[in-house]
Amino acid sequence: MTQFARRSFLVGGGLAALPLLGDGDGNLCGQEKPAARKLPAKGHFPIKAVSSANGMAATARAVELMRRGVDPLEAVVQGVAIVEADPNDTSVGYGGLPNELGIVELDAAVMHGPRHRAGAVGALRGIRHPAQVALKVLETTDHVLLVGEGARQFARVHGFREENLLTDKARKIWLHWKQNLSDQDDWLAPADDPEVSAFFHEHTRTLQLAGKTVRRFVRPTGTIHCAGMNAQGDICCTTTTSGLAFKIPGRVGDSPIIGAGLYVDNEVGSCGSTGRGEANLQNLASFLAVELMRGGMSPKEAGMATCRRIAEHTKRRDLLDDEGRPIFDLKFYLLDKRGRHAGVSLWGPAKFAVTDEQGTRLEDCAFLYKRPADHS
Ligand code: GLY
Repeated sequence: MTQFARRSFLVGGGLAALPLLGDGDGNLCGQEKPAARKLPAKGHFPIKAVSSANGMAATARAVELMRRGVDPLEAVVQGVAIVEADPNDTSVGYGGLPNELGIVELDAAVMHGPRHRAGAVGALRGIRHPAQVALKVLETTDHVLLVGEGARQFARVHGFREENLLTDKARKIWLHWKQNLSDQDDWLAPADDPEVSAFFHEHTRTLQLAGKTVRRFVRPTGTIHCAGMNAQGDICCTTTTSGLAFKIPGRVGDSPIIGAGLYVDNEVGSCGSTGRGEANLQNLASFLAVELMRGGMSPKEAGMATCRRIAEHTKRRDLLDDEGRPIFDLKFYLLDKRGRHAGVSLWGPAKFAVTDEQGTRLEDCAFLYKRPADHS
């Protein structure tokens, strides 16, 4: 049996037989009934890219490249490279916030819709462009995920330059966090630094806990996801991040896990996420959202149903406010084969980035819960 024939058999006899269908309310049930879809002819699909709100430069670059005929995966990886190299984005690549030891560890994944192949790296140190390393995993190995020292060695043999990714800004934020952690160690409270204070203010949330209104620092989990569709209707995507700020060394989030941080089915659409990776990992949310679109939901409906599922599955009392709502955030960026897109968030208002024939812009996310007015 040829490789192609074997893959066709696995899809036809395996995944397609799973009873994965949305009932319109976020539940999976029944048999698959593909929604009637009227798709453009190949060569006439709308060229577009969607991303998290920090990805306007990424979507603009990805669309520019796809218009020139560059493969959508190469295009989105080149797009997010702009953000990976930006020292001012403390959630991705160079300048990302470090782990609890002050060392930057990056996660990234790529997925190619038409070939249904993926590559990923986790807990990668010293390499600025983890999405490009993930692409090398996809293109040059029989594996999907390399982590830690193995991922670093792999990047080195492919000629990636090693460097210290910890910028002065990220180092000062980390040091401030460390110095403030406890009054039972030998670190004294840090001196005031306006740039650092502004960062902690930006990530402090108002929460209703145990009958009281409290202000609490929530460790950032910012990330960039970018998905692109070309004129052939082929869809590819990438997610790249420095992960949860001040994490335990070796912690891997959702971003490099296929089905969690991103997923694409070239006949259906794609979904990727930013936010609390642990909640996503426990729900395999991007896979869920794509399967809900397969069952006929629009990107917005699928994203909202996925948010509801995550909220329902959040049982830990310390992760819920007094109204039983998750205190963390998760966002999803969805694109379907018809070229429809949506950004969806547990908490809003929130924005996401889009580039298409109407230009590059931020659009509003749909959301499940509205933040209090002073929620930053
Ligand atoms: N979503 C990014 C992370 O949790 O690592």
